Amino acid sequence: MTVQRVVCGTQADVARRAAAQIAELIAPNPRAVLGLATGSTPEGTYAELVRLHRDEGLRFAQVTTFNLDEYWRLPAQHEQSYRRFMEERLFSAIDIPQDQTHVLDGMAADAAAECAAFEAKITECGGVDLWLLGIGSNGHIAFNEPGSAGDSRTRLVDLTPETIAANSDGRFFDDPADVPRQALTAGIGTIRDARRVLLLATGAGKAPAVTRALDGPIDADCPASWLQDHRDCAFYLDTEAASTAR
Ligand code: GLP
Repeated sequence: MTVQRVVCGTQADVARRAAAQIAELIAPNPRAVLGLATGSTPEGTYAELVRLHRDEGLRFAQVTTFNLDEYWRLPAQHEQSYRRFMEERLFSAIDIPQDQTHVLDGMAADAAAECAAFEAKITECGGVDLWLLGIGSNGHIAFNEPGSAGDSRTRLVDLTPETIAANSDGRFFDDPADVPRQALTAGIGTIRDARRVLLLATGAGKAPAVTRALDGPIDADCPASWLQDHRDCAFYLDTEAASTAR
């Protein structure tokens, strides 16, 4: 079980090829279950999926989606909530019914109950066929920060100062003080249960994390390294993100 490394050239190439993988899954299998991610990295992939829907008739009417994570105590309508991100970048521009899109509720009364319901819903839907991921510069996947166990499940976690800084560099939040300190996240075990995992990374800033994840030991220091023994995992990289991997 080796992670497949696909070096795509530019960021736009990564987006096109990742969207093509998703289209190849759902076109013959309209009831597919997708795992989705937020962040800058998948934005181009979502734009390409919207284009495939609009121009080439790719349908999402029977697809079910689960998102990786959500900030704790950020209402869904907040401009930086991950629910809002997904509505704006993808859901509102395709034909997926809202009740088939699952994003953890950061305002839930009981975090543990919300996380258990999320896991149960994935099981009820037959598991995730393909989970799209990004990677943090510290090797995190979803909000599984270094130290997270390979069999962790959906839960409430604390964000590291590094992740808070990365998400308040002006792309999302402007001020670190505005970034929630906690989030609900699918666990590494939850992600590894997906039948296929597609991790996207672009830009030189991600090269050290990509190299550590692919070529370093499998351990909690680099959460993405837990993907090394997944049965069907591919990293889609631009030239810069792939520049230091073996
Ligand atoms: C965020 C998200 C992750 C994402 C990562 C990288 O904090 N929780 O799911 O993959 O960090 O984000 P970006 O793609 O913006 O670099």
